[in-house]
Amino acid sequence: MRKPFICGNWKMNTDRAGAVALAKATAKVAAEVPAVEVGACPPACYIEAVVAAARGTPLVVGGQNMYFEAKGAFTGEIAGPMLKDLGCRYVILGHSERRHVFGEPDDLISKKVRAAFAFGLTPILCVGELIGERRAGKTNEVVQRHVTSGFAGLAKEQAREVVIAYEPVWAIGTGETATPDQAQDVHAFIRGLLAGLYDAGLAQAVRIQYGGSVKADNAGDLMAQGDIDGALVGGASLTIDSFAGIITEGAKAKGL
Ligand code: PGA
Repeated sequence: MRKPFICGNWKMNTDRAGAVALAKATAKVAAEVPAVEVGACPPACYIEAVVAAARGTPLVVGGQNMYFEAKGAFTGEIAGPMLKDLGCRYVILGHSERRHVFGEPDDLISKKVRAAFAFGLTPILCVGELIGERRAGKTNEVVQRHVTSGFAGLAKEQAREVVIAYEPVWAIGTGETATPDQAQDVHAFIRGLLAGLYDAGLAQAVRIQYGGSVKADNAGDLMAQGDIDGALVGGASLTIDSFAGIITEGAKAKGL
């Protein structure tokens, strides 16, 4: 069975003291709900403090982005080995803000995914369509492109470990969530793609999170869907009451 994975993406929020307090509170919830893997992706400058706060607890930590080179003259970038050195297990790659605010193309994200494995990190690969693409009936086409290029060149053992986050861009930070049926349709489509790229067994093993305005009051309905294995949570991961609600509702929806 796929272990549900609920991960907070703190984006460019918190300060040092706030990050530590939120990490401690999140780690406490993670320990109370061990059937769900709980993660936090703080701003890079607070990763070390968050890892220290999470030490000895089940809370796992990830970076929000990385560059594909191991080191060198890349001003402003952070390398995979640096995230690893700080204690990260995961790294979010291809987040819609990276794709659409910072213009990261598919081939760059693809290089980052392969590099993450080379550096001992597990990618959380974000995929998802813009509102115009959904209205034009292009959701599957866009998601197929993101998944196919994101998995390009990955060996089967690596592909099995990737966490996919389906995040319709129109649902991120807008308060508008995909309905559980809309999300389930795309998650099932992604699993079908993985079966084609690899095989049915691998498609069943890969965890696919939903992301986009997940809150405590919709997390249960979303995670009750068979192909939704967790959530990547932005705004609602920044306060412990809402994030704890998402974790407990998600666990309940999975019968855990
Ligand atoms: P949101 O962000 O939960 O604030 O919509 C989700 C994300 O961007 O991962």
